[in-house]
Amino acid sequence: MEMVMEIRVEKGAAEKFPCELLLLFSFEFPEPREGPIKNVDLEWKGFISSLMNQGDFKGELFERKLFYTQGALPAKRVLLTGLGKRGEFDLDKWRGASSKAGQYIRDAGIKQFALQIKKFDSFSEEGLAESFVTGLLLGTYQYNELKTLEREKIKEIGEVILLGDKTGELKSLNNGMGTGRIIAEGVCMARDLVNGPSNKITPTLLSERAQQIAKDHGMELQVLEVSQAEAMGMGAFTAVAKGSQEPGKFIVLEYNKGKGLDTIALVGKGITFDSGGISIKPSEGMDRMKDDMSGAAAVLATMQAASKLQIPLHLVGVIPATENLPSGKAYKPGDVLKTLSGQTVEVISTDAEGRLILSDALTYSLRYQPKAIIDLATLTGACVIALGDYVIGLFGNDEPLLKRIQDSSEKTGEKVWRLPLWDEYFDYLKSDVADFKNVGTRAAGAIIGGIFLSKFVEKIPWVHLDIAGPASIEKERPYVPKGGTGVGVRLLVQLLRDWK
Ligand code: BES
Ligand code: ZN
Ligand code: ZN
Repeated sequence: MEMVMEIRVEKGAAEKFPCELLLLFSFEFPEPREGPIKNVDLEWKGFISSLMNQGDFKGELFERKLFYTQGALPAKRVLLTGLGKRGEFDLDKWRGASSKAGQYIRDAGIKQFALQIKKFDSFSEEGLAESFVTGLLLGTYQYNELKTLEREKIKEIGEVILLGDKTGELKSLNNGMGTGRIIAEGVCMARDLVNGPSNKITPTLLSERAQQIAKDHGMELQVLEVSQAEAMGMGAFTAVAKGSQEPGKFIVLEYNKGKGLDTIALVGKGITFDSGGISIKPSEGMDRMKDDMSGAAAVLATMQAASKLQIPLHLVGVIPATENLPSGKAYKPGDVLKTLSGQTVEVISTDAEGRLILSDALTYSLRYQPKAIIDLATLTGACVIALGDYVIGLFGNDEPLLKRIQDSSEKTGEKVWRLPLWDEYFDYLKSDVADFKNVGTRAAGAIIGGIFLSKFVEKIPWVHLDIAGPASIEKERPYVPKGGTGVGVRLLVQLLRDWK
């Protein structure tokens, strides 16, 4: 999506600022009104107080009501938006309310609005501005690229003005706005890649996107062709790739902010379409399998955002990208593959291809001797059954790293839930002919997927995020429209920002 919305910071006060629409937030009645809404109320001769006293606007979470000021204020219109109970307020509700306000304004066809952001309690101007901008941009995201009819009906907000009254405030608002925009742009880039169909979003396109990011931000890029990956010994990645006519790409993108910084490897599953291969999936719902590169999209977007935010780290993004299709050249159930690690794998199902391509990618990432490896993958349907589409399945071998992820999850609202990786589960993967199999039982499917991956990270602190559920959703959430969500980007960016 092209980001056309202009957002800027200006000195000014809500009650004095001329604009198409003034956006005001309010906690639930009877919380005392303070800050911008109080000043507007005074200027408006108590209009808002009387509304709320009569119960015509309660301030319930995401409640919205539009008013025409008829010259009583410099703003032509006022949109009141509820924040719910003050004691329950947090940045996730704030992102949601920002999004809901933005959606209302957009859908009403209003092109410009202003709001004043003021710190309160423990919430800083910078933090509020960041989350406002993130919520607004994420909530008003639309994927329209491929629609050609009635394009004039597409509604978009053109301009947003964040008001602050003191010099220090303006600087904080500007910083928060900048950070929020960088993060939201990353998430939206990931969403575009996930929403894009597989005839467009090919491994080649992913490698070109990586090329663009590398060029724009001075990163190193290496793209291995399947033949090169084969020569290096990546027998698992290449087995999956060779069933498709569309050339696979093994993408390695490297961002380094300076010498001697911690190295973190981000590994993303990049199956641009998963038909299941010879173990073909039922056709019902197979179209969703264009989202099987959501991990790859999240890695690309995170690297881009990290570089724009100048995060002081050394990041290595490793993306094995290929389709998984049946053909005369496709790998087959019963085949035994030699992975880059040297371990051999018996293929039980060609539909458990994600763990195969990731095994070589994880092994490859070890060359950089990273302090941590984090993989993101739409790995198992079992994880969707276990946790639904709201939560990321969290696995790992290192408590401090898991704790970092959980902290980042708290801050960003990208929910994670931990599942175990006990040794006993490895029994399910015993093979008669190879070191282990690629599939165990249906029971504990998400965990067995994680156990498989754990065999390729040696002793390096590692986290596996199974994003099969939340990668794309069928019912919208407050600041996540339906379709590709860009899940994982905010979680990772926050983790990297907080790394030290
Ligand atoms: N890409 C799928 C997992 C998936 C399923 C993602 C549903 C999103 C929604 C993965 O490659 C797959 O097919 N996994 C199999 C593994 C099984 C054969 C062990 C699955 O989950 O059924
Ligand atoms: Zn599959
Ligand atoms: Zn898959």
